[in-house]
Formats: sequence, C-alpha cells, structure tokens
Amino acid sequence: MATHAGYGAQTTATEVAAAFADSVKGKNIVVTGISPASIGYTTVMALAGQAPASLVLASRTQAKLDAVAADIRNAHPDVQVHLVRLDLADVASVRAAAAAVADTLDRVDVLINNAGISTPERLAAKTPNGTEVDGQFLTNHLGVFLWTALLLPLLRAAAATSSEDNNGTARIVNLTSQGHHLSPVRFSDYAFRRDVYDVPDDEKPRAQVPAFFLRTKDGYPGFLGYGQSKTANILHATELARRLQRSSHKGDARIAAFSVHPGTIETELSRSLDQEGQETIAKTAPHGLWKTQDQGAATTLVAALDPKLGAADVAGGATLGYLSDCQLRDDMVAAHAQGADTAKRLWEETEKLLAFTVDL
Ligand SMILES: NC(=O)c1ccc[n+]([C@@H]2O[C@H](COP(=O)([O-])OP(=O)(O)OC[C@H]3O[C@@H](n4cnc5c(N)ncnc54)[C@H](OP(=O)(O)O)[C@@H]3O)[C@@H](O)[C@H]2O)c1
Repeated sequence: MATHAGYGAQTTATEVAAAFADSVKGKNIVVTGISPASIGYTTVMALAGQAPASLVLASRTQAKLDAVAADIRNAHPDVQVHLVRLDLADVASVRAAAAAVADTLDRVDVLINNAGISTPERLAAKTPNGTEVDGQFLTNHLGVFLWTALLLPLLRAAAATSSEDNNGTARIVNLTSQGHHLSPVRFSDYAFRRDVYDVPDDEKPRAQVPAFFLRTKDGYPGFLGYGQSKTANILHATELARRLQRSSHKGDARIAAFSVHPGTIETELSRSLDQEGQETIAKTAPHGLWKTQDQGAATTLVAALDPKLGAADVAGGATLGYLSDCQLRDDMVAAHAQGADTAKRLWEETEKLLAFTVDL
C-alpha cells in the first residue's frame, strides 16, 4: 500500500491539502502547537484553504494563538476558527482544553498532535501517580496520550457517522521524529536520573548514537530525553491503532492512527539549543537539504487526509503507520520503536503514570 506515488520530500502541504480537499471540506480538525514559524502554522494555513467546517487551534501561548487566528481569518474569512489554551505539560490544562473542545464541537474528524519540545535542560516533573519523569516525556508523550484519550469520544462521533465504505475517516496523527533513534523508552528511569548506560540493555542508547547526542547538562542527556519521547509517540500511535481495531465501540475500527517524521525544517524547535547543538541538528538534514515550511507540513497532511490510508490496512498489522517524505516508511523505524509488546507495555505504564484508564 502506498500513498500518492509521486509524493516525496519536495511535496508541499499546499499541494497535499488541495489534492485531498474532499477530506478537509466540512470537517472539524484539531491541531496542536500552531505558533507562527512552526510546522503547525503551515499545517493549519494549508487546511484553512480547503474549507474545513472548523479548525481548532490548541497551543500554549495565547498571543501566538491570537496572531495565527488573525492570519487565518484574513486569508479565509469563511473558516470557523476556535482557540484553545493547552499546556501539554500540565494535566489540569490538558483536561480543561479537552473539555473546551467538547463544549465547542460535537465531533472531531482529524486530530493532529503536532506540538512538542526539544530541550537540553532538565525539566523534571511529577506525574499524577507521583513518579518523577523527564519534562520532555511529560509534554511530548504523557500530555499527548491524555489529550488524545479525552478527545476519543469526539473522534468516535465522527467515525460513527461516516459511511461504512469510507475506511479510516477519522484520523489521529502524532508528530514524531527520526530523532526517535536516539533512545528507547527508559521504563526503569523515565527521568534520566541514572547514568546513560546504567539501565537494562534494551533501554540503552544504540551503539551507533554519535557521542555528541550523549552529552549531558547537569547530568541530563537532553537529546536522549527527546529521543525517548519521540519513540513513545510512535509506540502510542501503533498501540492506539491496534486497540481501535479491536474495540467494541461503534466506529472505532474506522479511526486510524499514524506517526509522522516531518523532515528537517527551520522552526523554533531548536530555540533552547546552543550554537553547537543547532549546527549538529542542521547536519541531520538529508544531503544537507532543509525542507521549506510548506514541505515540512506535507507528510502530516498525507497521514491526516489521504483516503488510501485506511484504518484496517494500517492497524491490521500490515504497517506500523510511520510516514516520512509523504510515504509509509516502516523501514525507517528503529527496532526499539517497533515491538507490539513494547507498545502495549508503554500504554499500560502510561495509564499508571497518569492514574487514568482509557476507555478503549
Ligand atoms: N522542525 C523539525 O525539523 C522537526 C523534525 C522532526 C520532528 N519535529 C516535530 O514536529 C513538531 C513541531 O515542531 P516544530 O519544529 O514546528 O517546533 P516549534 O516551532 O517549536 O513549534 C512547537 C509548537 O508546540 C507548542 N508547544 C510547545 N510546548 C507546548 C506545551 N507544553 N503545550 C502545548 N503546546 C506546546 C509551541 O508553542 P509555543 O511557541 O507557545 O511554545 C509551538 O506552537 C514537534 O512535535 C517536533 O518534535 C520537528
């Protein structure tokens, strides 16, 4: 199974949104992390051009939300735009934001979990069950997991009212990164309190990880923290897809879940890295080629909109649902992000950390 054969690294979000305009028209779409100069911004601008019923922008900073809403309203005055303050690092904020979406919409057709952080600083955090975790894991995985679970009834409502033959109508898309290769999930040390290698073998960074990415600040290896959280984004999407397929709730089998590596794009993601860190990240661009913003949002929109990517095909085990350069690319997923047992374990551990059981 492939998406549009001609799509690749150069494809733009504008092009993808236009090609799959029928998957946008009249739909309610929620996107997190939409600040100007981010991939999320380009994602929502491309979607706004194809007449969605509603766009919900959920992000951390109110002034940025207001600025982006003004841009959309100027360019596309007919699109309903709803703003929701969301701090994924704060469980109470996640709950309030999900409740605000439910107050506004009766269904969500597409949920794009784009927001994320990358930082060399130790942002230690406590979960609801009292466990210390890394702040990148809290923001990029635990917050996203809870937010997605709380929006599930609205995705269900969309899937239940869609036609039976339109497989995979409702979509969940997690932004991950090729940076997931840096670290497995450290189930025994979520907070990176122990030495990098003082964990079971299957939780250690791979031997191929360049020394630069192992560097620590105040004992904290920030790149590994990012890698752990991005591995969790993939495992979350694959386990979600599996559970949706097996679910007894009406319509669940027609909700698809994907994870996406957007490419290397100049955004504010590297804002807290020093010069050396930024230069090192820049070198991860294939052949030194950075994507434009419009190219950087294209893969997300293929995952969110391409009707060929039906739920059953993905969740049936045929693929992990990982996309890069606008194509399904399971071959690019690290072994530590692939195992069904690991995905199930992460799901169960996440429920414990959050003291929350997903209705799935
Ligand atoms: N850029 C790349 O080359 C690249 C490569 C691989 C993967 N990615 C992934 O792509 C996604 C988007 O990143 P980007 O490059 O566009 O980065 P970005 O410019 O830093 O944008 C990230 C967005 O997430 C929001 N955000 C951060 N922390 C949040 C929180 N606690 N709660 C809610 N929203 C929060 C930010 O809001 P504020 O501006 O208000 O903080 C911003 O809108 C991320 O998941 C990232 O891991 C990016």
